[in-house]
Amino acid sequence: NKVTAGSFDFKEIEAGVDQTHHVAEGYDAQVLLRWGDPIFPDTPEFDPMNQTAERQARQFGYNSDFIGFIPIDGSSDHGLLVANHEYTNDELMFPGVGAQDAKDAGFSKMTKELVDIEIAAHGGAVVEIRRVGGKWQVVKDSKYNRRITADTPMEITGPAAGHDRMKTAADPAGRQVRGMINNCAGGMTPWGTWLSCEENFNGYFWGKVAEDHPEARNYKRYGIGRPAYAWGKFHERFDLAKEPNEANRFGWVVEIDPFDPTFTPKKRTALGRTKHEGAAGITNSDGRYVIYLGDDERFDYVYKFVTAGRVDPQNRAANFGLLDEGTLFVAKYNPDGTGTWLPLVHGEGPLTDANGFKSQADVVIETRRAADLLGATKMDRPEDIEANPQTNRVYVMLTNNTRRKDDQVDSANPRANNAFGHIVEMMPEGGDHASAAFKWEVLVKCGDPSVASVGATFSSETTRNGWFGMPDNCTIDSQGRLWIATDGNNAKATGRADGLWALETEGELRGTSKHFFRVPVGAELCGPCFTPNDESLFVAVQHPGEPEDDVAADFENPITRWPDFKDGVPPRPSVLVITRQGGGKIA
Ligand code: FEO
Ligand code: CA
Ligand code: CA
Ligand code: CA
Repeated sequence: NKVTAGSFDFKEIEAGVDQTHHVAEGYDAQVLLRWGDPIFPDTPEFDPMNQTAERQARQFGYNSDFIGFIPIDGSSDHGLLVANHEYTNDELMFPGVGAQDAKDAGFSKMTKELVDIEIAAHGGAVVEIRRVGGKWQVVKDSKYNRRITADTPMEITGPAAGHDRMKTAADPAGRQVRGMINNCAGGMTPWGTWLSCEENFNGYFWGKVAEDHPEARNYKRYGIGRPAYAWGKFHERFDLAKEPNEANRFGWVVEIDPFDPTFTPKKRTALGRTKHEGAAGITNSDGRYVIYLGDDERFDYVYKFVTAGRVDPQNRAANFGLLDEGTLFVAKYNPDGTGTWLPLVHGEGPLTDANGFKSQADVVIETRRAADLLGATKMDRPEDIEANPQTNRVYVMLTNNTRRKDDQVDSANPRANNAFGHIVEMMPEGGDHASAAFKWEVLVKCGDPSVASVGATFSSETTRNGWFGMPDNCTIDSQGRLWIATDGNNAKATGRADGLWALETEGELRGTSKHFFRVPVGAELCGPCFTPNDESLFVAVQHPGEPEDDVAADFENPITRWPDFKDGVPPRPSVLVITRQGGGKIA
């Protein structure tokens, strides 16, 4: 049941940048949840001039990246929406902070009160939603609604749990941590849990460990030492000089049961510690669950995790330990179009005591160094990875890498100064996602095909609106079609805002892309997520109004006030739901 060529029949939108969003003709894009929207009956309405941490913890958070939808009773019109709240833009959220002042080394305008609002705006949300008369609405009095923040108690499970390197003053057992941070993309498991991935956790830590401290090499490999947030000024655990192990407790994949608001989120350390973009998986033909994981950094790696056990579709509870036992692998792409998954297993190959790996805990805590030693292929910032259940082909978004030099080019990362990124397609041997062998090819090199020096390879059927740069999040609809959301297109880079493009992967039109949706100025597009019937598509507009490098913008002087367009109200990151006018599948 492969998809046929020319499967997208929506009318393409014009590429461009302006103050608002645009969706293909014949579709509606409804703002469903904005930053600050109350998600409980007793939450006060959003008031940007009188925000508090307490209110923020009861409101929808900031900058959603991953969006998931879990049907209730199999319905595509009623279910739980889960959303990651990745990071905060203090200059746009708070009056008086200002674009420049927020970035000064001492974060002089950031008070403890503002930091605590930021902590409450991070994490994620579970929100019951329902479609009534064609329109989606939030069920505020749902028993499921929940906010998770960077302060929510979580449990550490798997090989690193209880290890000395995970112990802190607040948690001498090394098994409990407060919060998740910088949760980018994620995945939904077949047993109905939400995997939420900690990405750029390094930016939250102040202070340093000494050059000869046992964690110095580890922290350097993850880029710790240049704080992007003021948290360490007010909270000792975010200051490595005071709590040297706290940074080992971030950078994990977190599993959450959205149907149990009292569930303690689990940091599943067997899946490794990296700047995780996402954790989308597929049930293998033998019942094992396989999760593909990108580590979003220039010259970092593509991973997969294969569970030891099998998914039990009859017994939901039996699946809750699946992610604690299994094998983590890292990808090596050979020039001849073959590839190998290299196991990150303590005691195998170079992952031994002699190299500082005394146990599997050391391997997962220093996943990147373990993968370095195995000789994995250094990629151009691996973002989302999705497996197509209809074809068993796997799509890897490689967003860009302008630091790759001519002598660092390889077949899987074929362009130096790769400003626009590319997409790699992987074919597991025999359709077996647990196999160590795969074949691969570059599906498309992104960028403007009309500029020869860019070297883009979209098909010739792709229009001037249809090409994109910087693929980031992606999803596959129930018909097996690939949709790609971007991060990094703007007036200067590509003459177009970020947005959503539909990309043909099969047949004669393979490599043809069409533009479906675009975001307001300053934003990137995240999500995307279809309901099972393909009639509703959730997208997250992240950081609307975020200034480009050379533009100053702040709470008082934003470059857009999307989506409210009200004086005094800053731009608000929001989740939108796209539906077809008159009903029907998104085509
Ligand atoms: Fe949060 Fe890799 O983007
Ligand atoms: Ca993002
Ligand atoms: Ca992303
Ligand atoms: Ca990104």
